[in-house]
Amino acid sequence: MRTYLVTGGAGFIGSNYIHYMFRKYDNEIRIINVDALTYAGNLENLEDLRNRDNYTFIKADITDKASIEKIFAENDIDRVVHFAAESHVDRSIRDPEVFVHTNVLGTAVMLNAAKAAWENPDGTFKEDRKFLHVSTDEVYGSLPDDGKSYFYETTPYSPHSPYSASKAGSDLLVRSYMDTYHFPANITNTSNNYGPYQFPEKLIPLLINNALAGRELPVYGDGMNIRDWLYVDDHAKGIDMVQEHGRLFETYNIGGHNEKRNIEIVNIVIETLLELLPDDDPRKKNVSKDLIKYIEDRKGHDRRYAIAPDKIKKEIGWEPETMFADGIKKTIKWYLEHQEWLSHVTSGDYQNYYDTMYKDR
Ligand code: NAD
Ligand code: DAU
Repeated sequence: MRTYLVTGGAGFIGSNYIHYMFRKYDNEIRIINVDALTYAGNLENLEDLRNRDNYTFIKADITDKASIEKIFAENDIDRVVHFAAESHVDRSIRDPEVFVHTNVLGTAVMLNAAKAAWENPDGTFKEDRKFLHVSTDEVYGSLPDDGKSYFYETTPYSPHSPYSASKAGSDLLVRSYMDTYHFPANITNTSNNYGPYQFPEKLIPLLINNALAGRELPVYGDGMNIRDWLYVDDHAKGIDMVQEHGRLFETYNIGGHNEKRNIEIVNIVIETLLELLPDDDPRKKNVSKDLIKYIEDRKGHDRRYAIAPDKIKKEIGWEPETMFADGIKKTIKWYLEHQEWLSHVTSGDYQNYYDTMYKDR
């Protein structure tokens, strides 16, 4: 039975990935989920897995060398899938240091612990051990708004935000381990994910949460920035396919040719909410395009991201399966049916965060 060490599994993509893996492999694999449970980590996302014999949660910080080494010492790990990171661009603009600490140092600790556990005395590595580093298309910088340029695996890195700079740093560390030690790894760089369990600091769940409560829908700048949206299950499938069928030491871009301007997303979310909410649901009267409010732009706001998924399609046969029209409906339906989840994650510190980020803009 293969044992996976998943970092950041209590976050948005990590928890969807763990669900995907158990749906796919059920009792054929074991997963150890290591997460520090920051504001973004939520064990409610994984409550249904609590009684599984082949699932273990360990609360630990990836920057804590001793804890991570202990996990490797006590478990024979076959696969590492490394999601844990500080992930929100706006937070990185306010407070860059924690991004460097978690994303760069944390990745170094993970790499070093895996290397020490997997390395043979002659410098080769035990068979069939693999490390997958989950990264972002933001490392490539910003594309012109021309609809025809794309991010390829060979595109030079040009990160603009402290978040993307810290992710670029972590990617380069992984590359350095592959180049220096022949460490068995892959990197994936993926576009904007959407789906269930996403924390409402990110655009889509923030819009859903605000619209349901009749609060303003903040649109940065002119609302014309472009993101390339990918349903989170398709991402989870891509990660698994890269790890099992990709060529070691290679980077794969994962994206779905699904570019949308932010204002289009805002309109789609409002229209879908109005379509899905029954007339007698009191939240329906709150939802309206009148809530849209253009506010001061994000500093250094990248104009356009767009992934060329040619390599992963050609080499591995991965393609996105979820059409945006279906994915967004599934996502919004999930949030409507999980109002309690949304209430839990927006209680406590969330209001302070929101007030600080959006006040006076
Ligand atoms: P998230 O913020 O929802 O989750 C991050 C998780 O990491 C949380 O559970 C948090 O508790 C945990 N974590 C943070 N610091 C930690 C630490 N020091 N030690 C252990 N755990 C820690 O993030 P996400 O959106 O699920 O993103 C996951 C990964 O995917 C990140 O590496 C991110 O850069 C990358 N990524 C995200 C997207 C996206 O659209 N969300 C797209 C491309 C790549
Ligand atoms: O491209 C992949 C990246 O996508 C990931 O690496 C990041 O972890 C993830 O957070 C995401 O980054 P973005 O900055 O693109 O996502 P966010 O949801 O924060 O914003 C999406 C777009 O919407 C962006 O152009 C900014 C804009 N926006 C965002 C918020 C939160 C608004 O206009 N208003 C908002 O309130």
